[in-house]
Amino acid sequence: MAVLPIREYPEAVLRRKADPVTALDAELQRLIDDMIETMYAAPGIGLAAPQVGVPLQVFVVDVSGGKDPNALMVFINPQIVSATGRVREEEGCLSVPGVYGPTPRAARVTLRGSNRAGEVVEVEAEGLLARAFQHEVDHLHGRLFFDRMGLMGRDLIKRRFRRLKRQQERR
Ligand code: NI
Repeated sequence: MAVLPIREYPEAVLRRKADPVTALDAELQRLIDDMIETMYAAPGIGLAAPQVGVPLQVFVVDVSGGKDPNALMVFINPQIVSATGRVREEEGCLSVPGVYGPTPRAARVTLRGSNRAGEVVEVEAEGLLARAFQHEVDHLHGRLFFDRMGLMGRDLIKRRFRRLKRQQERR
C-alpha cells in the first residue's frame, strides 16, 4: 500500500465527472488500498478517487478516523437514492486544506453502490456519515463542498484558501 499525493483545488481532475468503474480488477483493488492508506495518513474521514488524480467513481470513508474497525466503507459507482431533511454544519476537504465553512446538506441519505467485492450495498445514514456520503459523491461529479454554499460563503472560502496558499509559498 502507498500514500498517494492528494490533488488540490483548483486542479482540473477535481472538476470533471468521474467515469463509472467497469472492472473490479487487481489495479482497482490496489487503488482502493492506496486510497485507504492515503485517507488515514492525511488524516481524513473520506477520500474520493479524483482526489488522488484518478477520475473513477470510487470513494472510501471512515467517519471514526480508524478508531472503529467496522467503520471503513468502500463504494464503487455510488448513487444517493434518497435524501431528506436539511442541516448546515462546518465542513472541509483534504483537497482544499485549511479552510472550513458551514455547508448545507441533506440530514439523512440512502446511498447505494457496490463494495470492493462487487456486491450491491445500500446504507442509510444520518449525521456525519450522511454528510461524508454527500461530500464524496459530490467529488465524483466534480463538485467541491463550497459549491453548496451561497455566493458569499463560496467567495470567502476561495479567498481564504488563496491567502493560505500565498502564505505557504512565502515560507
Ligand atoms: Ni473532499
